[in-house]
Amino acid sequence: MQHMNQLVNNMSISSPPRYQPYSSKPGVCIIESKEDNLFLGIRIESASFPTTISAVQSGVIQCLMHGQQPAVIFYQDPTLSGLEYWINSLSIEVEQVSEQELNDKATKLQEYNQQKLESSTLNFNQISNPNQTTGLNSVKPIPLEVFGLSKLSRDIHDLEEETSKSHPIFSKIQMEQFKQALVDVCKLAICPESNFPVGALLWTNLGIFPGVNVEFQDWSLGLCAERTALISALSHGADKFYGIFVHAIYGDLSTPCGACRQILSEHMLFSKLYCLHKDYTWSEYFIHDLLPNAFYTDFLAKF
Ligand code: THU
Repeated sequence: MQHMNQLVNNMSISSPPRYQPYSSKPGVCIIESKEDNLFLGIRIESASFPTTISAVQSGVIQCLMHGQQPAVIFYQDPTLSGLEYWINSLSIEVEQVSEQELNDKATKLQEYNQQKLESSTLNFNQISNPNQTTGLNSVKPIPLEVFGLSKLSRDIHDLEEETSKSHPIFSKIQMEQFKQALVDVCKLAICPESNFPVGALLWTNLGIFPGVNVEFQDWSLGLCAERTALISALSHGADKFYGIFVHAIYGDLSTPCGACRQILSEHMLFSKLYCLHKDYTWSEYFIHDLLPNAFYTDFLAKF
């Protein structure tokens, strides 16, 4: 709670990032963890409506991905999708706040995350301890700090401009770094149901965001590594997705499931997917080749 109070000082009203091209339904919540950190949960809509990720799901999963336990959901609109469902499944407390309060808290959290993102790309040598969980400062929204990928991010930063035109070919050393980071990120997977750890690294305009598969007893609540990387990146304000790296420790051939192909094709159709297989060989694909004739229609877009 103490951090919520800190966050409401010096507030200005602006909306947190969202991905809602199809509706204006309520789509923001903030999760406070037992460790006193805050996570922004945003609704991420899909052209295939049932593939939409609710704000509560994205907030809770980000909290769990950081090794923390969700304690309170701050929300404004009681019609927030799936609220009841999550409260009942995970016995998390809820606290209704005003729209302005929620926006202000979200804005402050975004500003805080922004500072973290900027400082992490400046402090190339600073590799923090991912297990350190003391207060708000311990939130590590991007993997560069956690997995020591800062230098790699800086090296490929220059390629970003080029990426929209052509696709960079990474050096052997860089691919080796991605491999090591993928192997490391897989260790953070939360997969008690399947015992099948999957890790992803999503390269965006704000850096490289990690994702792992997160499972619950109710399988329908979990998300794949590709999508947890995406929710993390989107809720930190990333809006350009240059490439995604995926590894499943036990996967004979690690390629994304159908639901992930749908979501990836909506956000990064012309980007590349790099799959690291069980034997540490790589395959590369364009996302648009993985889901030919993907479902899309302008008819649905309202915003
Ligand atoms: N999984 C992924 O993380 N990515 C995929 O593309 C395929 C499947 C995860 C989801 C679930 O936790 C486990 O693998 C088994 O389906």
